[in-house]
Amino acid sequence: MDFYEALNSRKTVREFEQEDVPDKVIERVLAAAFRAPTNDHMRDWHFIVVKDRSDAAKLLDIIPKGISDEEMDALIRDWNLNDSLQQACYRSAVPKQYRMLFDAAAIIIPLLRQKTDILHPENLSHLNGFASIWCSIENLFLAAAAEGYGCNLRVPLGNEAEYARDILGFPEDYLMPCFIGIGRPKQNLTPVCQKEINLRERIHKDRF
Ligand SMILES: Cc1cc2nc3c(=O)[nH]c(=O)nc-3n(C[C@H](O)[C@H](O)[C@H](O)COP(=O)(O)O)c2cc1C
Repeated sequence: MDFYEALNSRKTVREFEQEDVPDKVIERVLAAAFRAPTNDHMRDWHFIVVKDRSDAAKLLDIIPKGISDEEMDALIRDWNLNDSLQQACYRSAVPKQYRMLFDAAAIIIPLLRQKTDILHPENLSHLNGFASIWCSIENLFLAAAAEGYGCNLRVPLGNEAEYARDILGFPEDYLMPCFIGIGRPKQNLTPVCQKEINLRERIHKDRF
């Protein structure tokens, strides 16, 4: 698949067919992840691939399995989600947080080595490792799209990351930026409506 075709076909997929993603494909998309730029030249990243159903159930047990209408309204209010398309996206995505991962063929947990306190950086450079792994995550998503698969991600809330550390046994100095679900996108999915971007308003020549 041509690069721009893969780029344009990538979208967050939260519903999957019941179909495996072969290990060879997972290996290729993870190889793509390792092609991302990296702040310190080290690519000190690891990826845990969870396919086993009972391991997946244990790992995801902490993620809320649904949300009431009242909780959803409160979330939209508390998170100041004022745009109607943004609200529609959250109303579609939030109730799927558990199933989008559990129904995926594999859950991938990226890990980066974080040497300083990520929540109290002294300068932007202290976030470089975190920024780098997000580059690798986008590579992974694009490679999955090129292979005909889809991905979603969840940034861990509350103590989900610490819980995942206990279950998966990754070391203290490694940080998980998100959960990733990968699988074959369900057929005839209605896509979430995206914001239209007017490139001419966003690209500034010589000054803002
Ligand atoms: C940093 C980051 C955090 C995100 N967190 C979540 C999340 O916790 N749960 C979720 O379902 N999607 C999450 N997403 C996916 C976004 O909802 C999605 O990328 C956005 O709505 C645009 O849609 P698209 O990916 O289909 O283009 C996140 C994306 C990014 C880049």
